[in-house]
Amino acid sequence: MPCFKRNPKERFDTKMISIAIDGPSGAGKSSLARSLAQKLGYVYVDTGALYRTIGLAVLLAGHDPGCPDQVLAQLDKLHLDLCYQNGTQHVLLNGQDVSDQIRTEQVSKAASQVSALPQVRDFLTETQRRMAREQNVIMDGRDIGTVILPHADIKIFLTATSAERARRRTAELLEKGQQVTYEQVLEDLKQRDYQDTHRQVAPLRQAPDAILVDTSELDFDGALARLEQIIREGLR
Ligand code: DC
Repeated sequence: MPCFKRNPKERFDTKMISIAIDGPSGAGKSSLARSLAQKLGYVYVDTGALYRTIGLAVLLAGHDPGCPDQVLAQLDKLHLDLCYQNGTQHVLLNGQDVSDQIRTEQVSKAASQVSALPQVRDFLTETQRRMAREQNVIMDGRDIGTVILPHADIKIFLTATSAERARRRTAELLEKGQQVTYEQVLEDLKQRDYQDTHRQVAPLRQAPDAILVDTSELDFDGALARLEQIIREGLR
């Protein structure tokens, strides 16, 4: 696969623009960030995909993502790469494209578990910061505005009620052919919200200088227009 790679000798004297979008699962971060990136000509960086890939690697090795020792033993063995093909991010685990494999509920849960470990977060910090140093990015995650890019040009905290987020996520998974129920998705989502907001390191929270956007009552186009307005005004 043709990977997006910079010449290491290339210098980055120009300050790149970074836009951080944080928030809980299902608030619409990824689809909105992807569309915004296309409109603005920025690179979309989906940081959740990195945590998902570590979760997947642990599961593939037959280990328990909830057991720190087993997760940490895997960290030394894995190599992650982010590649861009026609503007779409692909994540490679030891050279293999796992972009589709990481989108299951089992991997979502594993990603949330492994992301609580400080060593896992440290392992991914530089990759994320490097992406933002090298190009204009819209980066979504849980700690982008608080930890990874505290000096981001614009920070948005995107949220929605858990009922609405579960409704969207259920529709998305059913469309992909996965057998799930709304109740099950809502339960998983609440559990992940709890885990992501209560972990010791880099918990999900709104940065003091982030703009809060609640998408519960907005459709996709409405949310997109609101975010685009925030970004264009913020960059003026
Ligand atoms: O955004 P997502 O659902 O793909 O993220 C999967 C998990 O990864 C999520 O439960 C929390 C974790 N995550 C994180 O801790 N920090 C990030 N910047 C992105 C994701």
